[in-house]
Amino acid sequence: MAILIKNIKELLQVRETNITKLSGSEMATLPSLKNAWLLLEGKIITGYGTMDTCPQVADAELIDATGKTVLPTWCDSHTHLVYAGNREQEFVDRINGLSYEEIANRGGGILNSAKRLNEATEDELYEQSRLRLEEVMRLGTGAIEIKSGYGLTVDGELKMLRVIKRLRENYNVAVKATFLGAHAFPTAYKENHTGYIDLIINEMLPAIAKENLADYIDAFCETGYFSVEETERIMEAGLNYGLPAKIHVNQFNAIDGIAACVKYNAISVDHLEVLTDADIEALKNSITMPVALPTCSFFISIPYTPARQMLNAGLPLAIATDYNPGTTPSGNMNLVVATACIKMKMTPEEAINAATINGAYAMGLSHTHGSITTGKAASVIITKPVNSYYELPYSFGTNLIDTVIIAGKKV
Ligand code: NIG
Ligand code: FE
Repeated sequence: MAILIKNIKELLQVRETNITKLSGSEMATLPSLKNAWLLLEGKIITGYGTMDTCPQVADAELIDATGKTVLPTWCDSHTHLVYAGNREQEFVDRINGLSYEEIANRGGGILNSAKRLNEATEDELYEQSRLRLEEVMRLGTGAIEIKSGYGLTVDGELKMLRVIKRLRENYNVAVKATFLGAHAFPTAYKENHTGYIDLIINEMLPAIAKENLADYIDAFCETGYFSVEETERIMEAGLNYGLPAKIHVNQFNAIDGIAACVKYNAISVDHLEVLTDADIEALKNSITMPVALPTCSFFISIPYTPARQMLNAGLPLAIATDYNPGTTPSGNMNLVVATACIKMKMTPEEAINAATINGAYAMGLSHTHGSITTGKAASVIITKPVNSYYELPYSFGTNLIDTVIIAGKKV
């Protein structure tokens, strides 16, 4: 079934096929068509233009978008959307003065979520997770990366990745799966890091590869978690199974992890709240996309990734939610865009580019997602009537979405 959207006040992010990511000053421009039409046929975009060229399409469902803006769906390249239970007690503990680190040291944090995850059945985990996926689809996310990393056991990690696979099979949103066995050291391996990394490499990875459950590999490269050398071992092992790296790094401390990630051709490095000049140098002229997670900074009150400094250095930048029960219990990409504008001083054009085409790049989907381009996925957001797209970040607490279409189907 075809959908013809007519009278679009402004059609955003109209790009040629060859654009796969934007860097530095390129991010300041958001190409658009005013008074436009857009044709979706089956699962793909088949045409667009200004209203003076609008075709007649037999049998197409007509949508009148007078006064409304249309843009590609959000590309959320970093989430931990599959998890069991919540951590609202830790939220209150932080209000009362404890830090993320102090909570983790008491057995809270990632290990708290791991305990709950290992107690949940696969079906329970699927049920909790699909509700979150449906919620973010309604909020305009059309492509999403989801990580494991709350299992920290062979069975737990496989359970998470099987749930991610079921989500991909049952929903038309594009899903990429990342294996994050190296999220934290389980208590039993606190003094035996090599033992746990051996378990990841010799048992988890082969089992995951056998069922073809992951697209990428991740590690939490951070003081108290995985050292740079340990992260390198994980990246190396991932590559042996055809899994490029997407790495959590520079969230709390800069430990020279970024240069190592670039050396291993990581597709992305994520967080970067603490960034040195050497880190910025390492990222220049690399294939690695830096990814900022502004609503994580907001929720746990840590610094924001220095976007202006990075863009001035000519780097690309993507933004994502980090949806997880500990540091960012929100999968709202519009709020991420707004927070990037308000707190990181990104312009709306830069933030929307970061949340669409660059987000798509950060999960290997920029050939199919992230822009209004003929042949890409028929996944678009139709806003409510707005004066301009500036209203999306400006009205940060209002849901300005009228309709979401993912792979040609209304959500
Ligand atoms: O991206 N920093 C590491 N991992 C997650 C948080 C995990 C958790 O607290 O459950 C993050 O912020
Ligand atoms: Fe994360």
